Amino acid sequence: MSAHKIAVLGGDGIGPEVTSVALQVMRAAGASLDTTEYDLGGRRYLKTGEVLSDSVLEELRGYDAIMLGAIGTPEVAPGILERGLLLKLRFELDLYINQRPFVWPAKNIDMIVIRENTEGTYAGEGGFLRKGTPHEVATQGSVNTRMGVERCIRYAFDLARGRLRQHLTLVHKTNVLTFSGDLWQRTFNEVHGDYPDVATAYNHIDAACIYFVDSPTRYDIIVTDNLFGDILTDLGGAVSGGVGLASSGNLNPARTGPSLFEPVHGSAPDIVGTGKADPRAAIISGALLLDWIGESAAAARVQAAVDATLDPANGAPTGPTTAIGDWIAARV
Ligand code: IPM
Ligand code: MN
Repeated sequence: MSAHKIAVLGGDGIGPEVTSVALQVMRAAGASLDTTEYDLGGRRYLKTGEVLSDSVLEELRGYDAIMLGAIGTPEVAPGILERGLLLKLRFELDLYINQRPFVWPAKNIDMIVIRENTEGTYAGEGGFLRKGTPHEVATQGSVNTRMGVERCIRYAFDLARGRLRQHLTLVHKTNVLTFSGDLWQRTFNEVHGDYPDVATAYNHIDAACIYFVDSPTRYDIIVTDNLFGDILTDLGGAVSGGVGLASSGNLNPARTGPSLFEPVHGSAPDIVGTGKADPRAAIISGALLLDWIGESAAAARVQAAVDATLDPANGAPTGPTTAIGDWIAARV
């Protein structure tokens, strides 16, 4: 079999450190990867003023998958890199599912958050009126299309159907967001008709935050909108071993182009080069990538080796970054 073509966007801060360890582990697991590195992110922007050119974007469409480290540096104002690079990739490549698993055996947590990834408040609807004056107005709308909501909910039902518990929870704020919440709830109820074998529940986002802390084992699959999903998945990481373990797949399930895999954590500029970065979130993201491109056996080996680090009896190192990577790579 020929090598899989992978674009590697290490990005800023600890991004390059954790992605190189993740690639080392993926290769050790037997995956044949033909990688091409792209220098994108804050460092590049400060040097050249360029965030993501149309020609690079077009090139990226040609890969089998994209591996991303972290984007963002304190010297660049908020929004420039997020909107210009990460969100642009999510929107342009139609990565409409953001899949974020949380597994923490010590607390019996085994859940996956399916976050809508192309709409909501992230769509960028809104603007200023009279900016900088005492009469300034700022609006920021939430865009929810029937098509976007339905394809996300269908993906979540499909995923739930294949699980042991076959349980799906919709998280929203239907008691206040009576327009978008209504569309989500109605679509959820209608799609449920096609999946009678899946049991469902509904939680408001604020209640879900309590349940994530108090009783996370109630959850199997969760589906929610872009912003709620962003917030809830940081909490998910915090209650299941820390954000150092939180991985994600930005997926294009229609497979009209590559999907993008990245740890949930940021670039952590304060610990760059110290060896303190936990590479496991990037490594699990690598396992998600392998699974997505059809290397499910290698993916399972990577996941199992990361899981082995969670049992103190196995004596896995807790640092530095490369030692954690070497330990995992030796067990795949
Ligand atoms: C995430 C991040 C991004 C988001 C930022 C960096 C734009 O927080 O992937 O969760 O809000 O989606
Ligand atoms: Mn986030």
